Amino acid sequence: MRGKYIENVTILTQMMLPQFVKPGYRCIDATTGNGHDTLFLSELVGTEGFVYGFDIQQLAIESTKEKLKERENFQLICDGHEHMGKYVLEPVDFVIFNLGYLPRADKNIKTHKTTTLLAIEAALRLLKCHGILWVVVYPGHEEGAEESQALKEYFALLEQKKYSVMTSKFVNQRNNPPYVIVIEKKITNE
Ligand SMILES: C[S@@+](CC[C@H](N)C(=O)[O-])C[C@H]1O[C@@H](n2cnc3c(N)ncnc32)[C@H](O)[C@@H]1O
Repeated sequence: MRGKYIENVTILTQMMLPQFVKPGYRCIDATTGNGHDTLFLSELVGTEGFVYGFDIQQLAIESTKEKLKERENFQLICDGHEHMGKYVLEPVDFVIFNLGYLPRADKNIKTHKTTTLLAIEAALRLLKCHGILWVVVYPGHEEGAEESQALKEYFALLEQKKYSVMTSKFVNQRNNPPYVIVIEKKITNE
């Protein structure tokens, strides 16, 4: 039987986003893909809030634009998330990464550990104090496993007094299921 709450990372993400994202917030969807998270964020932040969405695939940007066609509180950027600091010139409350490749599209176009780490650093710089970074990791394919290991090493070195970092993962599922890393920033930028 399928779980109602604890079934997969998508359900977990949908359950938790409203806890972290409130009306008026500034957010970044670092991997818009088909725009599910971008739309959800745009609804949660409402007309006073704003969502920046990044993807390297024009296909993903178009698909997200179509999903948000009734809305105005967003900007979509067809560029790598590692360059987010060039486009986002204000502090943000929440950033989400949904790593890996776009389902039903070219599986060779996927996130890569080097650019992901650069983007995570940029996101941590942009976050406000008590802002949240939500990362969905897919270790089930070879590059995803490398990316997962690189993230683990990177986050383990973040100072505990500056960032709280936790993971949420299924321990009784086969084939390296996706998992979530959630980070709260506890310092203000100088
Ligand atoms: C798992 S999908 C995202 C799914 C999406 N959240 C949704 O709701 O459909 C990962 C996305 O990351 C994008 N991507 C890969 N490398 C990227 C990069 N350097 N910067 C921004 N997006 C990237 C891919 O094009 C792909 O659309």
